[in-house]
Amino acid sequence: MTSHVMLFPLLVSILFFTLLLPELSLARSFDHGNLIIPSPETDGICLSVVVPHGYKCQEFEVKTEDGYILSMQRIPEGRVGGNGGNRQPVLLQHGVLMDGMTWLLNSPEQSLAFVLADSGFDVWIANTRGTRWSRRHATLNASSRAYWAWSWDELVMYDLPATIDFVFSHTGQKLDYVGHSLGTLIALASFSEGRLVDKLRSAALLCPVAYLTYMNTPIGILAARAFVGEQITNWLGMAEFNPKGAAVTSFLNALCHDPRANCYDLMTSVTGHNCCLNESTIELFLKYEPQSTSTRTMVHFAQTFRDGVLKKFDYENPIINLEHYGQHKPPVYNISNIPDNLPLFLSYGGKDSLSDVRDVQLLLDDLKFHNGDKLTVQYINDFAHADFVMGVSAKQIVYNAIIAFFNHQQS
Ligand SMILES: *[C@@H]1O[C@H](CO)[C@@H](O)[C@H](O)[C@H]1NC(C)=O
Ligand SMILES: *[C@@H]1O[C@H](CO)[C@@H](O)[C@H](O)[C@H]1NC(C)=O
Ligand SMILES: *[C@@H]1O[C@H](CO)[C@@H](O)[C@H](O)[C@H]1NC(C)=O
Repeated sequence: MTSHVMLFPLLVSILFFTLLLPELSLARSFDHGNLIIPSPETDGICLSVVVPHGYKCQEFEVKTEDGYILSMQRIPEGRVGGNGGNRQPVLLQHGVLMDGMTWLLNSPEQSLAFVLADSGFDVWIANTRGTRWSRRHATLNASSRAYWAWSWDELVMYDLPATIDFVFSHTGQKLDYVGHSLGTLIALASFSEGRLVDKLRSAALLCPVAYLTYMNTPIGILAARAFVGEQITNWLGMAEFNPKGAAVTSFLNALCHDPRANCYDLMTSVTGHNCCLNESTIELFLKYEPQSTSTRTMVHFAQTFRDGVLKKFDYENPIINLEHYGQHKPPVYNISNIPDNLPLFLSYGGKDSLSDVRDVQLLLDDLKFHNGDKLTVQYINDFAHADFVMGVSAKQIVYNAIIAFFNHQQS
């Protein structure tokens, strides 16, 4: 069966985790010696999970051209201090239903943001619009429908340029980039339009997503079909996709009544079998995530699953498409237009059911004319979707390779 997925299931799985297993995350007593228990509604990411580990951390606000106010964090140096010189800036972009906390959930020795800071990088963390620390807007209120009228096209158009431009102008240096999942999709889409490539030195893409053709998780397929099915207008009328909200809960409950859905172990049935997660990290993850996105973003994923092509949001109406795009069908993001000399590092896992190996192969086919010495590809047989950001062995297997790749680039 042909299917695509990726973020979709991730979201669904996370939702379930949070909704069905609240006792798990609430009833366990945390060891305050090992786990940092912040009060997430009052402290920012710096004070919650960075400063307690002994790192310097700065909070920034960045306004997008369409008025969204995004929070960013910077870890300017490692625990042992600066190295005197100009440190190479790197921007970390999380996936859907996640936020910048993604990169900080394990110990400093295991989490990418800390590992990079301790390896001499100037680390910047992005938080996409609509997530906990990025819910303000110049004129719109996040409880209004208008605030949520965007899909990941707007992340390509506005969020990514705003954060990359900010770091570029603040440091005066070209950035290295790390994206996970949706963070790879919006980067690939940007690069395919020639955006931002003049401000980047290189990009590392973890669980790269451009196609969702081979998703084979039943729950993801059911969810995707629901989003583009006859109820599409209902979905388009729903603004915020809040995984913890009542509407999403009842949606998931309905899906789980389908005998094909396996809601017992959602994390596995959605993301694939993660080899290397720490139970304490999963608890921390459930404490902070999942985060909201727009319903339109979920519909956009479902369209990618349905159509097998990476393109802009389809209004499902030729007249409205014409108004937005000047053509009856949404324009395609053509991956083969990514500049051939942009250094890329791709890492993907054999057990990832969201970023399926066959979908990554389609992406690699699109990149077959990329300069050979500018494309590094890493395949990890045992890894699934979450291992790349939360796996206890990710440093040895993936992050060391990313650092070697970055250090190989000419400034
Ligand atoms: C946003 O709207 C909600 C509900 O209408 C209201 O309670 C809140 O005060 C508003 N926030 C701002 C910043 O205006
Ligand atoms: C898992 O996390 C706990 C709490 O942070 C830590 O004490 C333990 O060493 C971690 N286990 C591994 C294998 O990293
Ligand atoms: C993408 O661009 C290449 C050439 O740049 C072209 O051959 C190909 O047909 C395009 N693909 C799509 C889906 O438009």
